Amino acid sequence: MAKLSVDVAGVTLKNPIIPASGVFGYGREYEELFPLSKLGGIATKGTTGQPRPGNPAPRIAETPSGMLNSVGLQNPGIDAFLEKELPNLLTKDTVILANIAGSTIEECVSIAQKLDATDVHMIELNISCPNVKQGGAAFGVHCDSAEAITAAVRKATTKPLIVKLSPNVTSITDIAKAVESAGADAVSLINTVLGMRINIETKRPILRNNVGGMSGPAVFPLAVRMVWQTAQAVSIPVIGMGGVASGADAIEMMMAGASAVQVGAAIFTDPLAPVHIIEEMDAWLDAHGVDDVRQIIGTVQPWS
Ligand code: FUM
Repeated sequence: MAKLSVDVAGVTLKNPIIPASGVFGYGREYEELFPLSKLGGIATKGTTGQPRPGNPAPRIAETPSGMLNSVGLQNPGIDAFLEKELPNLLTKDTVILANIAGSTIEECVSIAQKLDATDVHMIELNISCPNVKQGGAAFGVHCDSAEAITAAVRKATTKPLIVKLSPNVTSITDIAKAVESAGADAVSLINTVLGMRINIETKRPILRNNVGGMSGPAVFPLAVRMVWQTAQAVSIPVIGMGGVASGADAIEMMMAGASAVQVGAAIFTDPLAPVHIIEEMDAWLDAHGVDDVRQIIGTVQPWS
């Protein structure tokens, strides 16, 4: 067996695989299927200052090799998360990344301050949700606002701070550099790609929100490209995600420069996808004589 542990911003994960925020809830349904201790980490559903019901349905649409969602940050709010979910998660022998989102900088700062007083391992600041009218991706598509919110949250916590980036920008590397300069310890990318489907009989968009975030295997090449570009642009670790569905995909993402890999939509078709991906990575490393997964990070050899 190869050594699978990786380091991200001073935190050791037993393997690089992390279910992405929003696809895994707080793990309760999945721990009936496998021990959560098998995972490198768990990114929890984006938590806001107050409970949110999310957007009206329909808020999921299938697409070729992927899906659109417009969930709208449905979550019970930070106080319920701290009381009912985090204590249980912290018993699971895996790294917990608390994903946080807000309509204002002050809201994100307040959530970060509350998390700072807990034993949560890392905070993932979501500046890239495409499905809310205030906050969300609005923070993440301009360097100035990305830098400002990162700096404010940085001051509010000493926890390792990951900033989750949007692909719906002209230059993701400029945004990554802005959040790095504001004190981010790592970046995670890509969040979903803004998309739309229309029912041609009713002429109505399929999603009640009209537009939503695209994920799944169709976005994988976009994610690999952005991870590769970002890993070269910043000195902080990059967590790669976007359409990862197999061990081979995770290996590819790490060769592009990712230090760890989040798995999203694949979990909806195979709830055991993270476990299968870990096993497939391990088998690939053994077959290729690699005894430590960290040896593959950033090893792509681009054509000149
Ligand atoms: O709509 C949602 O809850 C999605 C959030 C995200 O993509 O960050």
